[in-house]
Amino acid sequence: MIGTGYVGLTTGACFAHLGHDVVCADIDVDKVRRLQKGDVPIHEAGLEELVREGLESGRLSFVVDSADAVGDADFVYLCVPTPQSGDGSVDLKHLKAAAAEISAHIRHGAIVVNKSTVPVGSTLLVEEAMNRPDIAVVSNPEFLREGTAVTDFLSPDRVVIGADDPAVADRVADLHRSIGAPVMITDPASAETIKYAANAFLATKLSFVNTIAAVCEAVGADVGDVLAAMGLDKRIGGEFLVPGPGWGGSCFPKDTRAIISMAEDAGYDFSLMRGVLKANDEQFKRVVNKAASAVSLNGSTVALLGLAFKAGTDDTRNSPALEIAGLLLAEGAKVRAYDPAVATVDIDEIVVVDDPYAACEGAAVLVVATEWDEFRLLDLDKISEAMVSRHVVDARNILDREALLSRGFTYQGIGRN
Ligand code: UGA
Repeated sequence: MIGTGYVGLTTGACFAHLGHDVVCADIDVDKVRRLQKGDVPIHEAGLEELVREGLESGRLSFVVDSADAVGDADFVYLCVPTPQSGDGSVDLKHLKAAAAEISAHIRHGAIVVNKSTVPVGSTLLVEEAMNRPDIAVVSNPEFLREGTAVTDFLSPDRVVIGADDPAVADRVADLHRSIGAPVMITDPASAETIKYAANAFLATKLSFVNTIAAVCEAVGADVGDVLAAMGLDKRIGGEFLVPGPGWGGSCFPKDTRAIISMAEDAGYDFSLMRGVLKANDEQFKRVVNKAASAVSLNGSTVALLGLAFKAGTDDTRNSPALEIAGLLLAEGAKVRAYDPAVATVDIDEIVVVDDPYAACEGAAVLVVATEWDEFRLLDLDKISEAMVSRHVVDARNILDREALLSRGFTYQGIGRN
């Protein structure tokens, strides 16, 4: 495994769990040292247990130099970051550098597997960067969600392999045989597109859900009932139908922009996707407008519950909570935030405290941005005592509306009046 981020580390630990011998390489020396001791730097359910199991069994090891990782390998997985460039396209410098670096050390007959989310043509790009015609390169996109990455790896809906040579694809598919997942073998360009199309569709579904929530508010319908009934239609499906403050994270914002950019480069204006992004930006603003309708934000303190982009992770990359905090600060509000998994953020003006009631101290309005279970169990009387006025914007629809109303709070959820 080249790269020990969410994807490389989960993939490596899971393959070791399945009985393969895995060596993970990362250029971050401190991280490698921590991992060698079984100390996992990210909040990911079940991952630390698998890393320790792999270290104890001797099937999993960590090294700094990628040359040490690939020398004996039959398969080399590229799991390096593919950040967004200024123009929305994908920056492939890490992928090219990793490919060039391993090239001289890979043994004849090995297979290089592109796991990073990369635009169409990247399989070819890795082939060119390696300049090793004897080495096959395949695309094998990941579909792991943060927070449930281990179970997503071990019980996937599908494994997608894009290869020009069916025999090579079969060898990669064999690595997954024991988990009995449906395997789809296709060409590299289709495999690369599948990943973007899946994330673009899911983001579209969520923007649709959030805009339907706005329609529900406007016409006096209840979004919970509307979506529950919609989800019973098998063509729609009941998953990924929860309205919220807008979607975020390290993948959807980057991948939706990348598919727009990729399509544009190929001469297609993906206007639907641009609308999906616009709806998401509007959703962040709608949450702030709800707070502004309750109190004058300028000079007021807002208690923000949640900083992670969703529950179950400590990741704040492109978090809707931070988007909302930024808009609140721009309106002149002071933001006091609490998240059970996040102790610091990059925005200095946000005061991060270590207790939800401390976040509410002196607050005029409470905004729930992340759906942590512990927020469902808050002592509302303590919240009420801590705040200077009783207003709640529940952007995850997780608080007990009736209990809040009975204590004199105003309550605004998403898609329900
Ligand atoms: C997403 C995809 O779900 C994975 O399949 C994919 O592999 C991954 O990106 C990736 O490309 O690596 P992830 O970013 O971990 O996974 O997060 P999701 O669980 O998809 O959530 C994304 C955002 O949508 C979050 O802000 C979440 O709160 C929001 N969301 C999700 C909702 O608002 N409502 C829902 O019903 C589901």
